[in-house]
Amino acid sequence: MDHKPKSFPLVNLETIRNSPHIRKYLGIGDQYLEVIGTIQHDEPHANLVAHGTREILLKLGYSQREAELGAIAGYLHDIGNIMNRYNHGLTGAILSFNLLRELSMDAEEMAIVMSAIGNHEENTGGNPVNNVTAALILADKSNVHRSRVRKADPASFTPRDRVNFAVESSCLEVFPEEQLITMKLKIDTNICSVMEYFEIFLTKMILCRRAAGALGCQFELLINDVKLL
Ligand SMILES: [Fe+2]
Ligand SMILES: [Fe+2]
Repeated sequence: MDHKPKSFPLVNLETIRNSPHIRKYLGIGDQYLEVIGTIQHDEPHANLVAHGTREILLKLGYSQREAELGAIAGYLHDIGNIMNRYNHGLTGAILSFNLLRELSMDAEEMAIVMSAIGNHEENTGGNPVNNVTAALILADKSNVHRSRVRKADPASFTPRDRVNFAVESSCLEVFPEEQLITMKLKIDTNICSVMEYFEIFLTKMILCRRAAGALGCQFELLINDVKLL
């Protein structure tokens, strides 16, 4: 009988990106969101969040491997939209469980990725239960931009469309020495006032503050160079 511990292949972001199933699910999920008129959650969003999550963890001194798990969770985080927009964090976590098991990913690593996906939305708790989850929340919620709005007619905009459409630039900066994470937005106040942004995105910003805290950092929100948080 073989008593050697079972070794698992290291799954990385490239493994995930090269899976035709995963790419297809992300694409179809985004098509379904187009049907219901929600902003884009396409592959560029998945890539941006993957990159952002990895960068936050690396800048704060976490290991390369933890940052890679962050990139995987970032890429997969919206995959649950293929089932339903509602609770897509939870369904995405379960879907990822099956996809990652097929790739023979290590159980502990799978748990980290699944928890990050399952906690990235405010309506299902959004608890930063580990470093990867906290970084993913910050990377996802900072991807606000007019390019994500699909609708051409402003009269058909939802409040979330209007806020996204108003954002001309957004970036997240990490200052490890100061233990500070800053979200900087430039918004066109003719489209949406700062107050309106804050009203609509307040719960997301509270989530970000909690996530930054879990990483040992303060969270700062600057809109048009004015500090709001
Ligand atoms: Fe999401
Ligand atoms: Fe997202």
